[in-house]
Amino acid sequence: MNNFTSDEIYQPEKSSNLPILVAEDIIKIYRTGKIETQALRGVSFTIYEREKLFLIGPSGSGKTTLVNIVAGNVKPTSGKVFWKDLLKDITRSSFEEIIKARRSFAGLISQDTRLVSHLTVKENVELVGYYANLPSSVIKQRSEFLLKFLGIWEKRNKKEDTLSGGEKKRADIAATLVTNPKIIIADEPTGDLDVITANSILDLFDKINQKLHIAMLLCTHSQNVTTRADRVLEIQDGIIIGQHESNLHLRKLEQSRLLEIDRQERIKIPESILDKLDNPKHFEIQIMDGKIVLNPIYKSKHFENKVKKVITCTICGKLAKDNSDFCKYCGATIS
Ligand SMILES: Nc1ncnc2c1ncn2[C@@H]1O[C@H](COP(=O)(O)OP(=O)(O)O)[C@@H](O)[C@H]1O
Ligand SMILES: [Mg+2]
Repeated sequence: MNNFTSDEIYQPEKSSNLPILVAEDIIKIYRTGKIETQALRGVSFTIYEREKLFLIGPSGSGKTTLVNIVAGNVKPTSGKVFWKDLLKDITRSSFEEIIKARRSFAGLISQDTRLVSHLTVKENVELVGYYANLPSSVIKQRSEFLLKFLGIWEKRNKKEDTLSGGEKKRADIAATLVTNPKIIIADEPTGDLDVITANSILDLFDKINQKLHIAMLLCTHSQNVTTRADRVLEIQDGIIIGQHESNLHLRKLEQSRLLEIDRQERIKIPESILDKLDNPKHFEIQIMDGKIVLNPIYKSKHFENKVKKVITCTICGKLAKDNSDFCKYCGATIS
């Protein structure tokens, strides 16, 4: 869709299994003074061309850290990130290199819009094109197309302070798309909008994905957002615990969750399931009728058996070891 001609925009769906972004074994440890927080504990995933991949998880699970790392804003403690067409692990690139490569690769959207308040909507969109050194004819053509496509053409000569929340968001998205990115990476993009406005912005994301064929990585809490995804990754405590293909309900995640063995061969048991079982720490594992059965052990008998009982004889006062019924020094009965 380089020149945004209608032929390119409305071309028939092309199937694509080509990876566009790959994250491998991402670990992120934040150090604040003596306090260490392990925000990501070995996360790997791939996004394919045109895919809408959403990331869900409770607050503090590592979503923002992960999107910032794959967007090139933050360096991981270890791990690799690859972007399509860039034959290099971006975690080893300088921020200057990343910013340059990102212009044509990824558009970043967050809760806050980044409009310059003394410029009009159209000037804001064009400004991003000029920063990216695009020819002015391309900038004009793209900004006109995008402002119309995103339903904000009538507001093109308005400044930020006269726009509604939804209009600001549309202007921000237009500015993000002017460099023709292959993927949109968005962290809670509708978090600060009312439900109706948020839904209209989500409709726009669908339209951008379907008509402009741009892939999306979007992290969210919202049920509305997740029902629009091709695939949903669920993150907990810095680990991807599983994925959901469709029809997920945020309150009934266990109905659609596929647990995943990660690259370190771990499976994380979801916290909601451990809570229901009273948080056992040990399990017996068995294969039964082709299924893996985990039997929770609340008091680990394996552990207890290994601890030798040490009892003092009440008659002679010596240590009467072993599990014998009689003291081996004085013969008294051990109770
Ligand atoms: N800059 C930072 N310095 C220290 N700790 C951080 C920083 N950013 C995030 N964290 C911690 O990392 C963990 C994951 O945070 P975050 O990625 O923001 O999760 P989420 O977006 O899912 O709420 C949290 O425990 C958070 O407190
Ligand atoms: Mg966050």
